[in-house]
Amino acid sequence: MDGIRNIVILTGAGISAESGIRTFRADDGLWEDHQVEDVATPQAFRRDPELVQRFYDTRRADILAAEPNAAHRALARLDREFDGGLLIVTQNIDDLHERAGATRVLHMHGEGLSAWCMACDARHRWTGTLLDEPSCPACGKQALRPDIVWFGEMPYRMDEIFGALARADLFVSIGTSGAVYPAAGFVQQAKSAGARTLELNLERSQGSYWFDESRLGPAGELVPAWVGEVLGG
Ligand code: APR
Repeated sequence: MDGIRNIVILTGAGISAESGIRTFRADDGLWEDHQVEDVATPQAFRRDPELVQRFYDTRRADILAAEPNAAHRALARLDREFDGGLLIVTQNIDDLHERAGATRVLHMHGEGLSAWCMACDARHRWTGTLLDEPSCPACGKQALRPDIVWFGEMPYRMDEIFGALARADLFVSIGTSGAVYPAAGFVQQAKSAGARTLELNLERSQGSYWFDESRLGPAGELVPAWVGEVLGG
């Protein structure tokens, strides 16, 4: 693809759906089983820490059991072979982009396999449970919470994201419903900075209106085809 120097990609739950990780807003989605306010807010954690820890312990086990799919592998290929600027901003808390081999990945909503100590601010890779209140390996206090950005909290590394959006000449959104800000607004930021905008999603999203082009279908098919176009076959 000629003239493309800087690409920003936003991924959401839809890119991991074919790996068996549930999305949020489908009929069989995670939020159908739970009120968001009961499991994904700081208030919920204060009110009922056991419920929240159990919910994220299950998410962590789901992540460990999943494998990257063709869409993750295609983005990892793009990361390896595209010599321009690239940033893969993911709303996902799984590590499937990294396990597929991508390195230029930013987790704006945190990471399921990370625990954050509320006492000393240390972060630790975490593959076990938190329900049993393990001690922080750094300070010894029993103050670990999931390293997840909950509703009402500030997403991570927004300065870097806005910087990349301002430089982007192509913005691609993959597998996200466009229901949650600030990520849902990235397309408008990119567009006003002059980028071309492309959406790859199973169905039209809430933000489809803003995209120059929307391709509808499963990420496992659409993403490898698009990466092939960018890399020239
Ligand atoms: N291929 C492509 N897209 C898919 C696929 C697939 N195989 N399966 C589902 N999708 C699409 C759905 O059609 C939907 O538009 O992925 C989108 C997933 O939307 P959501 O479930 O709303 O997930 P997401 O957009 O990532 O949610 C954003 O909301 O709950 C919070 O913090 C959570 O990061 C999450 C944020």
